[in-house]
Amino acid sequence: MRQSEQLTELIEPEVRPMDTVLVTGGTGHLGRDVVARLKPTHRVRVLSRYPGSDPDVEWIRGDLATGEGIAAAVAGAQVVVHAATLSPAAKRGYLLPADLWRSPPEVDVDGTRRLLEAADRAGVRHFAHVSIVGVDRPRVPYMRVKHTAEDLVRAGKVPWSILRATQFHWLADRILGKAARLPVMPWPTELRTQPVDSRDFADHLVRRVAEGPGGQDTDFGGPEVLTLGELLAQWQQIRGRRRRVLKLPVPAVAERAARDLTCPDGTRGTVTWAEWLRTHAPE
Ligand SMILES: NC(=O)c1ccc[n+]([C@@H]2O[C@H](COP(=O)([O-])OP(=O)(O)OC[C@H]3O[C@@H](n4cnc5c(N)ncnc54)[C@H](OP(=O)(O)O)[C@@H]3O)[C@@H](O)[C@H]2O)c1
Repeated sequence: MRQSEQLTELIEPEVRPMDTVLVTGGTGHLGRDVVARLKPTHRVRVLSRYPGSDPDVEWIRGDLATGEGIAAAVAGAQVVVHAATLSPAAKRGYLLPADLWRSPPEVDVDGTRRLLEAADRAGVRHFAHVSIVGVDRPRVPYMRVKHTAEDLVRAGKVPWSILRATQFHWLADRILGKAARLPVMPWPTELRTQPVDSRDFADHLVRRVAEGPGGQDTDFGGPEVLTLGELLAQWQQIRGRRRRVLKLPVPAVAERAARDLTCPDGTRGTVTWAEWLRTHAPE
């Protein structure tokens, strides 16, 4: 290799413009934000069970839970951003007792394993895995599933980054919208939360992807830590849906579990809960 080529190799960012980036979960909340940020400078491919129609995206119909489409999705890709997930509770917007017992592993564990193996075979240079703040102290089955997925990424052969975020604003909005269907809302007002705009996290993620495999990234959270009481009060005011609140007592274990999901010392986004609510209609 000539000296000038070696120099270029050294100073070029890991993701070169027009590299092909596969985004799993590219139809989801975070995935859509990531795709929008990558499109101007990269070939973007999305693996989805329900491909969209954006002509600037290469759509691959597939299913991480069965393996369909995975080989085609990684073929020729230099980078994978893995943002697909299956959380029945998040989809519903409320917990059922079964969620405290089991979370389906088909997408987050089995699908991640399949994707890692296919990415290795295809020579992918960087596997950027999306995860959740506090996942290494998992207290509910979904978090255990996400933790197992992280372990697979760390043990895999593809150079990796793991990027964790706190809860997204859309999820808090969905949970509150469901809870407010009751005439009286049972609510643990004293618990703490640090919700974040998925667009802020997508900005951060795309910057990290451009830097190449970085291992475990610093936690990423919203700009403010709120009590669930404050979260609810702002939501009621902005959404105009006032309900009587039944304050639930908070055992110490729940207080610790909620604190683990925040990262006051981590990297912070900029969009506050109130700002997000004012600019987003309920889904
Ligand atoms: N929500 C939060 O508060 C939060 C907080 C921190 C981190 N995270 C993490 O951020 C990532 C994205 O979360 P999100 O909230 O944006 O998710 P989301 O909106 O629920 O989207 C989930 C995505 O997963 C895809 N998916 C589900 N099952 C699939 C399957 N069998 N095969 C292929 N794709 C499948 C869906 O695609 P199709 O339906 O089109 O197939 C969809 O694009 C996840 O890793 C999540 O754990 C989320």
